[in-house]
Amino acid sequence: MIDLPKGHNILLIGMMGCGKTTLGKKMAEKIGYSHLDTDTAIANMHSKSIHEIFNDEGEDVFRKMEKDIIRDLPSNQHVISTGGGMPCYFNNIDLLKQNGLTVYLDTDVELLFARLKNKNNRPLFSNQIIQFEEFLQNRISHYEKAHVTIQATNKNPSKIIDEILENVNY
Ligand code: S3P
Repeated sequence: MIDLPKGHNILLIGMMGCGKTTLGKKMAEKIGYSHLDTDTAIANMHSKSIHEIFNDEGEDVFRKMEKDIIRDLPSNQHVISTGGGMPCYFNNIDLLKQNGLTVYLDTDVELLFARLKNKNNRPLFSNQIIQFEEFLQNRISHYEKAHVTIQATNKNPSKIIDEILENVNY
C-alpha cells in the first residue's frame, strides 16, 4: 500500500475506452467520495463539448485546458476520471501523482478497440486497429508511471474496484 493520508484522492488513468468514467462513478458511490471527470469539467468550464473544442480550437488548446485544470482539482475525497491523453503531455503525470493515488487501468487493445469502434464521440480515435495500437503503445510508458497498475481486461467492474480499493486509504 502506498503511504498516503486517509481520504486521499484516487485518479484513474488509461486509454479511452478503459472504463475510467464508469468505474470512477461506481467506486465513488461505493466509498462515499465525490466523482469528478476532467473532460466534463473542461466542457462545463468552456461551455463546449470536447468535440467542439477539438474542432473549433484544436488539440493543442485542449491540452492546455487539461493542464490548467489539474491545478484546480480538489485535494481529497474525490475519485477523478482523467481524459485518456492527460497523463501523456507536459509533466501532467507528476502533477497527478501529487494529487493522490494514480491508478492505471491496463486494458487489452482489442477490447478497447471493440468498445470504441461504433461510437463517434472520441475525436482522436482511429478506426484502423494498427494505428490505434500504435497510439496506445506511444502512451504506455506514461501510464505505467502511475502508482498502481490494475489489469482491467475481462474483469467485472466490482472486481476491478475491489482490487483498486486494496491500495486505498479511505
Ligand atoms: C482523449 C480522450 C478523451 C478526451 C479527448 C482526448 C485522448 O477522454 O479527453 O477526446 O487523447 O485519449 P476519454 O479517455 O475519457 O475517452
